Amino acid sequence: MKIKSIYVCTHCGSTSPKWAGKCNACGEWNTIIEEVATPVTTEDKKRQLWQSSSGSERNSPKPVLLPDIQAGNTLRLVTPDEELNRVLGGGIVSGSLVLIGGQPGIGKSTLLLQVALGIQAKVLYVSGEESEEQIKMRADRIHQQRSDCYILTETNTSKILTHALALQPGLLIIDSIQTLSSPLIESTPGSISQVRECAGELQRFAKETNIPVFIIGHITKEGTLAGPKLLEHIVDAVLQFEGDQHYSYRILRTLKNRFGSTDELGIYEMQQNGLREVSNPSELLLSQKDEELSGSAIGATMEGMRPMLIETQALVSRAVYGTPQRSATGFDLRRLSMLLAVLEKRCGFQFGQNDVFLNIAGGLRVDDPAIDLAIVSALISSLEDVIVPGHICFAGEVGLSGEIRAVTRIEQRIQEADRLGFREIYVSKYNIKGLDTGRYAIRVQSIGRVEELYQALFAV
Ligand code: TYD
Ligand code: MG
Repeated sequence: MKIKSIYVCTHCGSTSPKWAGKCNACGEWNTIIEEVATPVTTEDKKRQLWQSSSGSERNSPKPVLLPDIQAGNTLRLVTPDEELNRVLGGGIVSGSLVLIGGQPGIGKSTLLLQVALGIQAKVLYVSGEESEEQIKMRADRIHQQRSDCYILTETNTSKILTHALALQPGLLIIDSIQTLSSPLIESTPGSISQVRECAGELQRFAKETNIPVFIIGHITKEGTLAGPKLLEHIVDAVLQFEGDQHYSYRILRTLKNRFGSTDELGIYEMQQNGLREVSNPSELLLSQKDEELSGSAIGATMEGMRPMLIETQALVSRAVYGTPQRSATGFDLRRLSMLLAVLEKRCGFQFGQNDVFLNIAGGLRVDDPAIDLAIVSALISSLEDVIVPGHICFAGEVGLSGEIRAVTRIEQRIQEADRLGFREIYVSKYNIKGLDTGRYAIRVQSIGRVEELYQALFAV
């Protein structure tokens, strides 16, 4: 058979017969790679990968009147992991295909092995990455031993699905999609065409057997799921497991969910004996320290639907060599530059000759604009070397003209700060209309501009 090359876009998965610098379908540059494709004959295509119980008479769907469809009775398999249940919208929907992405070493295998060992159902855990012994060792480490969890080390989709069909598990876990290969195509495991074919086969399997399937997917260097667009529309839900390798916190985020909200997120802590659910994030994220130092301020942020109080730390010091440095960990560097420019222009602070370092505690990444006010306070605090008292926290977005703008879910933020024993919270004056601030023990201070913040906090 003649071996033919096809050119596949690693971003959107579209194929073309010749190479190009820019993908015609999605417009991305330098994403097209060459793959060897052996055309699959129609004979091959017809070949059944696995025999479903009803054979050729699979119940193919018939047209149904919309009012006749029973809604609201989706069966969900509830896992012992509350965080995962919430992220999925209340448990694993039967027949659903869920992709969990994350960088190598972040804890994807650990998370799913924990689910496999804890859930009240028969589970088939397929690993193409590790040996049975390695998985056993991990299971020993997380101290959960159940007899209803089967391990299969196999990468051939046809064999995997045949085993799964015979075993009829309540949940099928695939670790990872990049190691699978389908006998129907000849390209190497992990290539775009393989990933697409294997995901497609798993999707058909899930839909026809009603067995939910979890697939683990590695993230590429650029921080995207391999062929993200490609897998995103095949699967029902995309979860991303993220965190900084050097810290123990892990966040499970929903990027897509056909059965629930994408605003939910789960928080875990990686410990010696597996992942532990963190139901009270703020208490852990506020760094414990005895003495108060300048350059630190606490922001009342929202991660998804959950309020979280997070410490921001700034260090402003005279630049000794050449161009002053600006560096941010866990926060957008351009946004930091913007905040510095606002402080220079609106309040007359001189950051120009200083190095500025900004850090979000716990190795988290914060995109919530409400953290602006805490960052601005930390910056001024470090520059002027004055302390922001530890009983104060902040929630407000800073606009280009130095105005403090309203943020979403202000009540939840105030409540969380109140619950954690903060005595004062600074919010935008545009945020407190209709707000019953008397309900809380915490004092709610409203401000309109950055200058007022300085006056209120530091002026004597
Ligand atoms: P792993 O689940 O193998 O990551 P992934 O599948 O995403 O590549 O987790 C690997 C890391 O987690 C590894 O560095 C060891 C650490 N770990 C713990 O700290 N505690 C534990 O109980 C386990 C099982 C792993
Ligand atoms: Mg793994």
